[in-house]
Amino acid sequence: HDLQGANTLGLPCVAERFVAAESPATLAKSVVLARQHDWPLTVLGGGSNLILPRRLPGLVIQPTFAEWRYRREAGGSIALRAEAGVNWHALVMDSVARGWWGIENLALIPGHCGAAPIQNIGAYGVELAEVLDSVEVLHLASGRQQTLPATACRFGYRDSIFKGALAGQVVITALTLRLNETPRPRLAYGDLATRTGSAPTSREVAEAVAAIRREKLPDPAQLGNAGSFFKNPLVSAEQAQRLLDDAPDMPHFAQPDGRVKLAAGWLIDRCGLKGLRHGPFGVHERQALVLVHHGGGDAEGLLAFADEIAAVVEARFGVTLWREPRLAG
Ligand code: EPU
Repeated sequence: HDLQGANTLGLPCVAERFVAAESPATLAKSVVLARQHDWPLTVLGGGSNLILPRRLPGLVIQPTFAEWRYRREAGGSIALRAEAGVNWHALVMDSVARGWWGIENLALIPGHCGAAPIQNIGAYGVELAEVLDSVEVLHLASGRQQTLPATACRFGYRDSIFKGALAGQVVITALTLRLNETPRPRLAYGDLATRTGSAPTSREVAEAVAAIRREKLPDPAQLGNAGSFFKNPLVSAEQAQRLLDDAPDMPHFAQPDGRVKLAAGWLIDRCGLKGLRHGPFGVHERQALVLVHHGGGDAEGLLAFADEIAAVVEARFGVTLWREPRLAG
């Protein structure tokens, strides 16, 4: 089964076996089948944060069940449950059309709901963890279903238990968000406030975020990419200060734990790598944190290109960049 069209980087990949699971029951059956045959299992969502190798042995399952429903609760709160296959951006736009608040800053993030908790998607000052109530999972080894409260998911910056202790152990089948009817715009990030005015609707916030993203980030339908290719690095306050002594204009964000978050895009940009192209791969010309695939490359080539970029940044600033999209297989 050809998966080149099923990953936003557009990397060539052939899966040995593939199932689009149209219901939770089909998903459960496929998981049992993989276990019986000892097939390695890969779960595919929207394929927007994934690096696929040329060949994927075993079974690839893509949950495509995509129902969602909501329940009004006391105090203007809304419990919104979305199944794994729901398109994230469609859910955001639906929620803002109803006037709800909570996920408007996360507009236009590609991918399916089932993948959102894995990297704790975040943008424009909001992370999924802040609005997430619980995550439903299916354990691969036992077939057991479980609802994990958000507090059990060990969320961090672009991190969760699904990248750690539960990596490769579960499939996320649904999530429940806690949204609100009471306006609470979060406009502190970048120039968001200047685009929305001071009392926007949640839809206006989502539209402003989508406009900013369209200006900076390449559309995967036109140019292969997986959004940010590196995480923004966290360094000690001392190291940040040393770097600031040399470059006072360096963007830096103090964290609650005393560390300082740097902008990987700025570091790459400052090394003069923005717009660089090596064969099939390049550094996006409007946002250096995004690596792009012009076609004709594969996962191996992409990883080598990314290593080159990281090595230049390491040599210049002494800062290590870590990859953000996950490697399948
Ligand atoms: N910058 C540069 N040159 C560049 C890119 C950025 O100088 O080429 C500077 C910017 O001027 C700004 C700072 O770096 O001062 C931060 O840039 P930006 O606001 O564009 O955000 P980012 O830190 O590069 C992060 C997320 C994005 C998210 C934006 C907005 C990560 C790894 N990336 O990017 O997430 O949309 O903030 O919240 O945390 C993604 O994960 O795929 C993604 C797109």
